[in-house]
Amino acid sequence: MKKIIIFLGPPGSGKGTQAKKLVEKFGFGHISTGDLLRELQKSHMIAPDEQEALEAMKHGKLVPDWLIYRLAFKAIESNLEKGKGVVLDGAIRTVEQADAYQQFFSQKSLENEVCVVEVCIPDSESLNRLTQRRVCSRCGEIILPGDAARYLVCPKCSGEIVTRSDDNEAIIKQRILVQGNDAIEPIRNFYTHLDIYKKVDGMQSVEGVEADVEKAVC
Ligand code: AP5
Repeated sequence: MKKIIIFLGPPGSGKGTQAKKLVEKFGFGHISTGDLLRELQKSHMIAPDEQEALEAMKHGKLVPDWLIYRLAFKAIESNLEKGKGVVLDGAIRTVEQADAYQQFFSQKSLENEVCVVEVCIPDSESLNRLTQRRVCSRCGEIILPGDAARYLVCPKCSGEIVTRSDDNEAIIKQRILVQGNDAIEPIRNFYTHLDIYKKVDGMQSVEGVEADVEKAVC
């Protein structure tokens, strides 16, 4: 199994759901740039330039590359130093980012340790899933839409179950525009050209996707 697993996919495709499963199964580090940005948002140590950069996120746009690299590269290095592989979840949204990450991995002689898996769903399904998504405000657990009515609090940590602030219809539509299938196409081509791209059908059950992801990465 490769040391660097990269998940691609439109908003709501299940990148986070599947990344958490791989991490639990194989002991990899989970690097979700969305989570890193949300943690930074809550931090009291945030620098003014970071605060300004985070504004884009509130509107469903991409935050500047420098902030993504600052957060993600540090997190990747910290896991590699501990001898752990990493699962990157949403960390790559443009060809420029894909290229920058490949250069970063090359500098560490890890360019042959990268496997890219896209979880494929149509944009219409992104809207459908994200308008229903509920998450734990404390641990980030993602609650399956069908399960949301069953829980008053998070089944893992008893935290409050909330709707993510960017999961409202107008912002979801903007995210689909900037990060949906049209935006992913050039990234797909970039990785296909490197011969490290695999895709799985994200429209199956969570367990079905999980089984296909495992086949793709092993
Ligand atoms: P981020 O938090 O990464 O948001 P996202 O890409 O929109 O992804 P999501 O977390 O919304 O969805 P997901 O694919 O993880 O799906 P999930 O597993 O939750 O990023 C937030 C923002 O940060 C971005 O908008 C951007 O501003 C910024 N950002 C982040 N990275 C960046 C970067 N590299 N560059 C620039 N800006 C960046 O599942 C969704 C729902 O579907 C859940 O309810 C789940 O239970 C359900 N579900 C999952 N799988 C299935 C299934 N098989 N069947 C039915 N339901 C399912």
